[in-house]
Formats: sequence, C-alpha cells, structure tokens
Amino acid sequence: MFATGLPQIGEAYFTAASMMIGITSGIQIFCWLATMWTGRLRLTTATHFVFGFIFIFVAGGLTGLMLASIPLDLQSHDTYFVVAHLHYVLIGGALFPLFGGFHFWFPKFTGRMIDERLGKISFWLLFVGFNTTFFPMHLLGLHGMTRRIYTYSPELGWGNANLTATIGAFTIAIGGIVFIANVLRSRRSGPIAGADPWDAATLEWAAASPPRPYNFALLPTVTSGAPMWTPPEDRGVVTGMRPDRREVLVTTLTEAQPTQRMVLPGPTPWPFLAAFGFTIGLYGSVFAFSWHYIAAALGMIGLIGWFWPRRPLEIEP
Ligand code: HEM
Ligand code: HEM
Repeated sequence: MFATGLPQIGEAYFTAASMMIGITSGIQIFCWLATMWTGRLRLTTATHFVFGFIFIFVAGGLTGLMLASIPLDLQSHDTYFVVAHLHYVLIGGALFPLFGGFHFWFPKFTGRMIDERLGKISFWLLFVGFNTTFFPMHLLGLHGMTRRIYTYSPELGWGNANLTATIGAFTIAIGGIVFIANVLRSRRSGPIAGADPWDAATLEWAAASPPRPYNFALLPTVTSGAPMWTPPEDRGVVTGMRPDRREVLVTTLTEAQPTQRMVLPGPTPWPFLAAFGFTIGLYGSVFAFSWHYIAAALGMIGLIGWFWPRRPLEIEP
C-alpha cells in the first residue's frame, strides 16, 4: 500500500490505521494472557501450542508495526522481511492454534487420547523448525533480499542464512511427519478418552466422545460460563418439548428465561432446487447470457416452493 505512490495524506491514514491494529491486537493478547494467568495451567501438548502461538504471533505483530511505518516499509517492501512477517502472523496466528485445538479436541472427535509425548516432540520440532526457517528471513530482508525470485548470486552473501532456513524447513517437515504418525497411531490404539478427559468446563465435554449425531438426548440448561463445573444440583435439562417434530425453545436474550416453543420446518427439497438452479444458471451465464433466464426460472421455482405458506410458523407459549 505504502509503496504504490499514494498521496501523502492517504499514506498517513493507512499508517495510522495499521498502527491502530496494534492496539486491538495488544488487547487481545493481554486477554489471552489474563485467561491463562487466572487459570490453573496444565502443560499439555495443546497448551504448548498456545504458548508457541502467542510467542510467534507477538513477534509477527511487532514486525507488522514496523512495516506500518512508511520510511521502514519503503525500504523493506518486497523483501524477505515481509515474508518473515507474514509467516510469523499466519503460521503463529492460524497454524499453531489449529494444532493446539486439534490436540485438545482429538479425544472428543475420535474417542481416544492422543499421545502427549509424541505430541510434545512434534511441537518442539515445529516450534524450533519454524523459528529456524523464518527468523533468518528478517535479516535477509533487511539486507535487501527481494521476494519472489527463485535464486540469487552467491556473491550477495545470503547463502548461510538461506541454508539455515532450509534446514529449518526440513525440521518443520519432520515435525509434521511426527504429528501425522501420532494421529494415526493414537486413533487406532490410544487410551479410551471418555466424555470429559480434561475435566474441561464447556458443554461439548458433556456429550459422548465421539458425540452422537443428535449431540444431546435432552438439551442441558446453562447457568454459568463454565457449565461443566456447575454443581450437579444446579444443572438441569430442557423438558416439555414434543419429540415428534422439530421444536426449539425460545428464550429471552440476556437472562435465557424460556418464553415459548417454536416449531421449525422439516426436511424439504426446495432450498436444494433453488441452489441448484442459481448455481448452474449463473455458471452458464459466464458463457451465454440466456442462462440467466434458466437461473431465474429454476431458482425462482425453488424459492417460491420454499416460501409457499403451507402453515404458519407455530409459536406456543
Ligand atoms: C499488528 C498487526 C499488523 C500490522 C501493523 C501489519 C502490517 C503489515 C504491512 C504494513 C504489510 C505490508 C508490507 C509490505 O509489503 O511492504 C503487511 C504484510 C502482510 N501481512 Fe501484516 N500486519 C499485521 C498483522 C497481520 C496479521 C494478523 C496477518 C494475518 C494473519 C498479516 C498478514 C500479512 C500478509 C499475508 C502480508 C503480506 C501480503 C503479501 O504481500 O503477500 N498481518 N502487514
Ligand atoms: C514449511 C512451511 C513453509 C515454508 C518453508 C514457506 C516458505 C515460503 C517462502 C520461501 C515464501 C516466499 C516465496 C518468494 O517470495 O519467492 C513464501 C511465501 C508465502 N507463504 Fe509460505 N511457507 C510455509 C508455510 C506457509 C503457510 C502455512 C502459509 C499460510 C498460512 C504461508 C503463506 C505464504 C504466503 C501468503 C506467501 C506469499 C506468497 C507470494 O509471495 O505470492 N506459507 N513461503
């Protein structure tokens, strides 16, 4: 953005806006830290990935703030400094949390525990490999190594840092292989997890592991942010719903007091016809205008059937 030749007022605006992202990101990070500070931490593989995520993501945010300053960005735009930044935020902010979530919910969706020892080995390989790969790119970028070029002359002196990054990338690959092996092995022969192996607070741990297609036979009522830690005498289930049709309980917005039962529509082919008509009609219209008519006709038939007033949506107190 800054290197496109915007007028100065536009650049100043984008600098201010980019710097402001740092404030919201900072608040986010302090919220995560506060959550962990006030909890009782167990150093599971999932927690390792959370720490890795915060460490890497903060480093990426800091280089983001550096890039938000026009003079620095004009120098470092299109260099490996940007490639380092984007991998710190993307891999730190998206991939590490995904790995953490995967290890945390693995027992829920497979019914078996994932091996913690292999999990931690894969974490350390990924974490060390990640920093070995992408940290040198900051320095390469500051030395002027441009991005999107497939090779560079040896005289430029970037060989050692690039070799380090390559070794790091292979370390990441080994971490990935250990992770996949752990998943395959634990899915087959990990210890049976049970519904709530972590003694976790949230409702998904009330369901069986893996959950039944209907999740809960009786909908639980929730009275706190940590429903699984609510004393059993304060827990309840929703009663009085008819089992022979799709009923949901409507509640007040803030207090969740039940107000009425609402009957939802049952299975119907009409939305499918609408989606099918619009999809093939609009795709065809890329090639010939007349497909617009087909889209309109098929799609509208679907929509009309879908919204045809068969019976009023029943609402019962
Ligand atoms: C403190 C927050 C952040 C700031 C101030 C920031 C700022 C910047 C700036 C100024 C650039 C352009 C560098 C250049 O090409 O000259 C950039 C590139 C980039 N940023 Fe960030 N960033 C932040 C966080 C993030 C996050 C959270 C993500 C994604 C998860 C992200 C993803 C990217 C990507 C993918 C690019 C490079 C796009 C490309 O050219 O291929 N950034 N960032
Ligand atoms: C082992 C893991 C990875 C390695 C070794 C790696 C390496 C690289 C390298 C060397 C570049 C620069 C290419 C160039 O400028 O010539 C690049 C670009 C990029 N990478 Fe990665 N990457 C990895 C994983 C990821 C992941 C997981 C994401 C996204 C979540 C990602 C997103 C990007 C993006 C958006 C670019 C910029 C593409 C462009 O310049 O057009 N990378 N990567």
